[in-house]
Amino acid sequence: MSRFFLQTKKISKIYKHNGGEVHALRDVDLGIRAGELVAVMGPSGSGKSTLLHILGGLDNPTSGEVWVAAQQIDNMSEARRAILRRKQIGFVFQAFNLIGNMSVGDNIELPAMVAGSPVSQARQRREGLLHDLGMSDRARHIPAQLSGGERQRVALARALVNQPTVLLADEPTGNLDSKTAFDVLRLLRQTHQQGQTILIVTHDPNVASIAQRVIFMKDGQITSETILKEQHDARALLTEMLDMEA
Ligand SMILES: Nc1ncnc2c1ncn2[C@@H]1O[C@H](COP(=O)(O)OP(=O)(O)OP(=O)(O)O)[C@@H](O)[C@H]1O
Ligand SMILES: [Mg+2]
Repeated sequence: MSRFFLQTKKISKIYKHNGGEVHALRDVDLGIRAGELVAVMGPSGSGKSTLLHILGGLDNPTSGEVWVAAQQIDNMSEARRAILRRKQIGFVFQAFNLIGNMSVGDNIELPAMVAGSPVSQARQRREGLLHDLGMSDRARHIPAQLSGGERQRVALARALVNQPTVLLADEPTGNLDSKTAFDVLRLLRQTHQQGQTILIVTHDPNVASIAQRVIFMKDGQITSETILKEQHDARALLTEMLDMEA
């Protein structure tokens, strides 16, 4: 069996658009071990969101293979893929994708309900996540009544409510000030410490610094990667701050 929990084998993605083609990914080979925390960085348009969507089974590569939890998912039926996603994967979209006419609390609780969790357990998770993200007093608001950064935190809470094996987060701190970004980082670190596998797309070096490995993308390819050591300055500093505030 592969030593990777998430793996792409030579995946390419070509979007057809207005008669033209966009090569969003080119022969990307990536393996992520269970429990690993990996950050993906790279310029706008380099293929980061595309890679995340394909790893989460939300889209298919044009060619190549995608493996999640020892199952090949690129040739799986949509129904089986939906079950795998529901059980294993939490997704934070770059555009949040919250349900507009449902309250914050219900948005967060929804995946737990869909997965058939007991009501009391779903409610408890929802309250805990709202608290951790400093959003308890917003539970009855609807998304339109929230700031961008608040919506972002609701999207993260929703992704974590079922304690997924894998969290795929696209710019989870993109709209946040340093205090709320800090709350999000602390939650991501706790999630990682519980053994969850995390892939974060980010433009922010502070966010990337909590990762064990940073992958850099350009023009649809992985151009380099850096393993961050515990003694790595920024990481050590941030880790210390997060632990201090916990
Ligand atoms: N549905 C689509 N149809 C056509 N082209 C697309 C589609 N989605 C993405 N693209 C193109 O594919 C390329 C990669 O897009 P992607 O969203 O993966 O980039 P990204 O690295 O996430 O960028 P950003 O940092 O701005 O979020 C871009 O050139 C984009 O314009
Ligand atoms: Mg993107």
